[in-house]
Amino acid sequence: MNQFVENKTENTYKFWHALSHPNEWRTQEPLRIVKGDGLYVWDDKGHKMLDGFAGLWCVNVGHNRTEVKDAIKKQMDEISYYQLFAGVSHPLAEQLSNKLIEMTAEEDMAKVIYGSGGSDAVETAIKIARQYWVLKDQPKRTRIMSLKNAYHGVNLGGTSLNGMPVFKMNYGPLLEQCNQIESPWLYRNPWNCEDPDELARLVVDQFEREILYYGADTVAAFIAEPVQGAGGIIVPPEKFWPSLRKLCDKYEILLIADEVITGFGRSGHMFGSRGWGVKPDIMVLAKGLTSGYVPLSATLLNTRIEQAFHDNNDHKGLFMHGYTYGGHPLGCAAALAVLDIVEKENLPENAAKMGQYLLTELKKLEAQYPLIGEVRGKGLMIALDLVKDKNSREPIDAEGDIAARLTEACRSAGAVIRPIGTKLCLAPPLTIDQAGCDVLINALKSAFDQVQA
Ligand SMILES: Cc1ncc(COP(=O)(O)O)c(C=O)c1O
Repeated sequence: MNQFVENKTENTYKFWHALSHPNEWRTQEPLRIVKGDGLYVWDDKGHKMLDGFAGLWCVNVGHNRTEVKDAIKKQMDEISYYQLFAGVSHPLAEQLSNKLIEMTAEEDMAKVIYGSGGSDAVETAIKIARQYWVLKDQPKRTRIMSLKNAYHGVNLGGTSLNGMPVFKMNYGPLLEQCNQIESPWLYRNPWNCEDPDELARLVVDQFEREILYYGADTVAAFIAEPVQGAGGIIVPPEKFWPSLRKLCDKYEILLIADEVITGFGRSGHMFGSRGWGVKPDIMVLAKGLTSGYVPLSATLLNTRIEQAFHDNNDHKGLFMHGYTYGGHPLGCAAALAVLDIVEKENLPENAAKMGQYLLTELKKLEAQYPLIGEVRGKGLMIALDLVKDKNSREPIDAEGDIAARLTEACRSAGAVIRPIGTKLCLAPPLTIDQAGCDVLINALKSAFDQVQA
């Protein structure tokens, strides 16, 4: 017996929960969700809650949408699975790839490579970036750079690029030549810089110094989330992404936008990078692509990269990558139905509008409760940063139980939110209306009243 389980009855189920010590949950009842409809989910005791995190930042169109279920069922009645390896296809994979390229015409995207989740779409992006430079006869360009606080999934490539040490510490040795520069985070940065333009400059300057130190001829790509999600919902300064693009162009470095969370409207724009006025070379898409109804991801590459493969006639252009479930027909069926809803209901615009409403109302809580150091966000990605002291901005103890108690109190008051370290995060379905936002706000108020007392 160890400290977690002493004198307690163990759970009977046999799976491990992600991102936690297995012992932590041995003796605790999980939140067991049994039903969902629209903005709401129900637990196994019949308690109804607003899904303030859209599952895991993914159920953008809301739960239980007939259009999506019908599309999946229709495809199942035809054929449930077929593959996309060399020379084999199925109609919905073709239809969806055409749709994705049409939606990203502004970004000059040319081709789609399917996967089944965000982590494997990131791996695809890394391998494509490296192969691009092999095709360009610059094989030494293998370094991939990223940001502190970044999250790029849990496969070994993504783990190497993650900017939070906790994701890496037990899994080395990791991919070589991956290094992280400071995160463009106004609330906490090593320069104590509070001027957005200056902060964008400081971070991008650091990137340039690293390029010059290692040599531009060793750098393949830079990868970043348009708004950092799992790192604590960090919204970069307005000038950061345009400056990043400019610097990448100066040294011909590929820019990869990890849009796993921000893709399809969550940041208030159809794509997060588009919201910053930037065209990446590679876009990584998952979650919102199918609203989580069926696992599916897509890595999009632009004409610059496609051309390099197109022009190659020897083995260097051989694309030795692909997943059994990449482009799964049920995922493609779900995605086509979901994207139709995203466009018809103009969900990016609703995310911007409702996000602004939530941010304005939650800022009032920031002024009211000493525990809230800052409320920040963009679109429907919002974080409440919990602090010991507003002036020093020192976070609450990560090992303490304040975030867990607030989360629990929120659930009792009718809303599921997600604690990420010392932050409470909100990412509700993009279909949320003002009444739904009020449910979230009131649940948070009630939770802070209870815990603060
Ligand atoms: C930005 C980003 N990239 C990659 C991933 C990994 O996606 P998945 O969990 O589907 O593997 C996530 C998951 O949250 C993410 O937020």
